[in-house]
Amino acid sequence: MDRRSFLNAALASALGAGGCATHSPPAFARSDRDVDLSALRRLRVVLSDPVLGRCAYVADTGIRSVARPVLHARTGDPVDFVIENRLPQPTTVHFHGLTLPESVDGAGFDPVLPGESRRIRFELRNRAGLYWIHSHAHGFTAEQVHSGLASLLLVHDSEDDALVEALSLGPASQLAVLLADARIANGVIAPYAPGADECLHGWFGNRMIANGVPDAAFQVSPGRARLRLLNACNARGLLLAFRERSRPDLPPRRFHLLGTDGGLLAAPLAVDRLFLHGGERVDVLVDIQPGESLQAVSLPFDPRHQAAGDGIGRRHPSREQYPPLAAAGICAGVQGGNASLPDGALLPLFALEPAPGPGAPMARLPERLSGIPAAWRQDQSVSRRIRLDFDPQHGYLIENLPYHPDEAGIAIARGAREVWEVRNSPISMPHPMHLHGFQFRVLRRQGTFGPARALATQSDGRLPSDLGFKDTVAIWPNETVWLETDFSLPSDDSFKARQRYMFHCHNLEHEDGMMMRNVTLA
Ligand code: C2O
Ligand code: CU
Ligand code: CU
Repeated sequence: MDRRSFLNAALASALGAGGCATHSPPAFARSDRDVDLSALRRLRVVLSDPVLGRCAYVADTGIRSVARPVLHARTGDPVDFVIENRLPQPTTVHFHGLTLPESVDGAGFDPVLPGESRRIRFELRNRAGLYWIHSHAHGFTAEQVHSGLASLLLVHDSEDDALVEALSLGPASQLAVLLADARIANGVIAPYAPGADECLHGWFGNRMIANGVPDAAFQVSPGRARLRLLNACNARGLLLAFRERSRPDLPPRRFHLLGTDGGLLAAPLAVDRLFLHGGERVDVLVDIQPGESLQAVSLPFDPRHQAAGDGIGRRHPSREQYPPLAAAGICAGVQGGNASLPDGALLPLFALEPAPGPGAPMARLPERLSGIPAAWRQDQSVSRRIRLDFDPQHGYLIENLPYHPDEAGIAIARGAREVWEVRNSPISMPHPMHLHGFQFRVLRRQGTFGPARALATQSDGRLPSDLGFKDTVAIWPNETVWLETDFSLPSDDSFKARQRYMFHCHNLEHEDGMMMRNVTLA
């Protein structure tokens, strides 16, 4: 066994990977980890390795049982399954990016306690795109997501089918990748144990794990490869680029951006790098020729961590009732003995290799990908100004307040269209701000830090990834971003009562550290 396969084997056993696929695969199956969400009957949340604190989702359809599933659905699908919490801690299953009523959003208002179950029923309403599920029990989110409680959810629809057909993308030309960094030493993932400073800046690993595998190499058919990528890191921002493995000295390859968090753009956009912060997704098309091999990397950048403070801990009295997954100390002030790579460091993500055989003839890239409207901007008057602040005593704050789960938060009229002006303070760091239940359109950016600004393609400062539907938008220190949202809710009964959503930073240490607001629609 060479070093890489040894490490992968050691990790696979540490992760307790593997399911047993015994029966016919569901409609979208490409690998034995693919599970049709509408066929899901039970989602077990298990502690697969109590020593290292690793966890897993195990999906049961009644016919097969799949650990670490990749979920697939079509717009309009009915969803009906039971969550079984087998962790020693409360948990939830949050559907990041979906339009859902509070009762099934999994936002953490009403976690599933250890040993308990919860039935989840809804209709999937969103357009095609890469969404994801992850745990969201307040105070436990960072630890549980880092421990493995995150899975991809690919939603398909007819607009997306048309693109797949136009580009003749077979299953071997499409890849969905969940990227999460971890600290790996001696072939094992170090348990989650941030010190106070890591609760302030975030928990950073030293290696990228792609779909559960460090130093992953994926094979795709030569020609055009469609990659859908999720940054599921607790805190790390990525500056995504593709380089030729044999010529890392060459400038990064051009590729096309096809879609963002909430699905396909109106038109493809040629780029050579993209920022992808925690919680964000991109859908890209990369050309790969027979005989060459590409390396997806995060290019080095200045991450603009300008805040400093000490003694910042998470005040979660409820945590004390439950054991930690592995390491005892969270924000305990002991700086990790394990090396971590700082945010913004050059980091290989995964390799992309062409499968043997000749390249397929390249279909022309359609000029139009979807019918999404341009950002609305009929009325650009600001509905609300929201400031992201930093205070060395309390850490990161939204509107100068730390989060309280029972706060009224931001009250929004159902059906309103609002423009939020969100401004990050100069002494800060980039905050990927996420809203549950709705998608933003980015209208404008101002004060953007140089290297990010250099990627802007529009005179209003918008970046390529600002041109589609977004549920997570990174805001750099000293930057102001204008976000438009349609707060209409579906008219069925499940949305009738008051609905609470969350607006929070998707740096998971900041999220658990109270950088969150409730958003209430009466
Ligand atoms: Cu992906 Cu509230 O989170
Ligand atoms: Cu979410
Ligand atoms: Cu943040």
